[in-house]
Amino acid sequence: MTSEHNKIYLVQPGGKLTGQFRMPGDKSISHRSIMLGSLAEGTTEVTGFLEGEDALATLASFRAMGVEIEGPKDGKVKIHGVGMHGLKAADKDIYLGNSGTSIRLLSGLLAGQAFDSTLTGDVSLSGRPMKRVTNPLAEMGANIDSQDGKPPLKINGGSKLKAINYTLPMASAQVKSCVLLAGLYAEGTTVVKEPAPTRDHTERMLQGMGYKVDVDGDTVTIEGGGKLTATSIDVPSDISSATFFMVGAAIAPGSDITLTHVGINPTRIGVINILRLMGADITLSNEKMTGGEPVADISVKYAALTGINIPEEQVPLAIDEFPAIFVAAACADGQTVLTGAEELRVKESDRIQAMADGLQILGVDAVATDDGIIINGGTIGSGEVESHGDHRIAMSFAMAALQAGGTIHINDCANVATSFPDFVTLAKEAGLEVDEIDG
Ligand code: S3P
Repeated sequence: MTSEHNKIYLVQPGGKLTGQFRMPGDKSISHRSIMLGSLAEGTTEVTGFLEGEDALATLASFRAMGVEIEGPKDGKVKIHGVGMHGLKAADKDIYLGNSGTSIRLLSGLLAGQAFDSTLTGDVSLSGRPMKRVTNPLAEMGANIDSQDGKPPLKINGGSKLKAINYTLPMASAQVKSCVLLAGLYAEGTTVVKEPAPTRDHTERMLQGMGYKVDVDGDTVTIEGGGKLTATSIDVPSDISSATFFMVGAAIAPGSDITLTHVGINPTRIGVINILRLMGADITLSNEKMTGGEPVADISVKYAALTGINIPEEQVPLAIDEFPAIFVAAACADGQTVLTGAEELRVKESDRIQAMADGLQILGVDAVATDDGIIINGGTIGSGEVESHGDHRIAMSFAMAALQAGGTIHINDCANVATSFPDFVTLAKEAGLEVDEIDG
């Protein structure tokens, strides 16, 4: 499932982004469609599924646990649900590649099964913190072995889970979802309180499949022992993937781009809010609901940007979008300051350091801080930067080339396939001069 060959992006300076595009399916919703569709009674039909490595890792893991899944073909997947107690032990370790969402959500779901499972991942995933999920799961009575809080995770099944009242120590939708999924199998009422709003796709999809979930401000409540009913799921385009094109259009004079059918769930639109505060020209049209999630067409035209202090309440709402937002900040007039974003240090890479290092190589005045970054906008030069195998770092530096003084050479880009397999093709069609070569 991991990308076997490394890739280098060579991106030529200049250009602008124009046209109308459909971005790939939402990664978070694609994962959840497979997980909940597998546990449902009946057949769930998914359209718009993200055929990227992360969501495919989740799909493969449920197939390995005995779920019959047809596709994906052209974004269509048919999941023959096995019911809440129909999963079977996989006959080998479950490899989840680069995918934090897969391992953290599966931990909760598998803690409540009668069988044992072992979850593994690539080098990046194997270095990521898992105590944030194993701690609450242990409180629920789960029996999980880790490597000092890191994967592989050996989930010893057969534990009788009990409901807990849990206040998340950090704003994390993965941890919230993990506890809620374990809560489906727990005796009693599980209550999760979050310090700030995070993406609520799990809650919405559970409700869409007929499961009672109470949401009261910062608190989500769910009772164990219910069942899920199959449904059809239309996965919107991923605002996190759209972000690269939004930022590209926002920084490159002459740009005018429209991204259709993008998910604009209020817990995901921090990037729109932040770019607008910087002066970006962003218009939403065709707003509607699909399968419990709001979507819209997003149009972005070039406009001069100004540096800002990013409001901390926007951080969880834009958590995956910061690498690209930093590129916008590098092109803005004045200083941009981000604080309260220490979670960025434990993503697919340390995104604060990776972006600060790369921006400095490109001649931008960017200084990493413990919980954020300070960027003084100016001109972007040229040079060779490292993506550290992080898809979002790679795509962000690719867009920086639109305003660069020379070629940007980006190493280690194969993992772009985890979330956006067609990135190079779509970016070229939109006007970015990017070539992908074997590294
Ligand atoms: C995700 C939650 C976020 C996000 C990740 C996807 C999800 O992670 O960064 O890309 O699908 O629940 P955290 O929960 O660690 O913030």
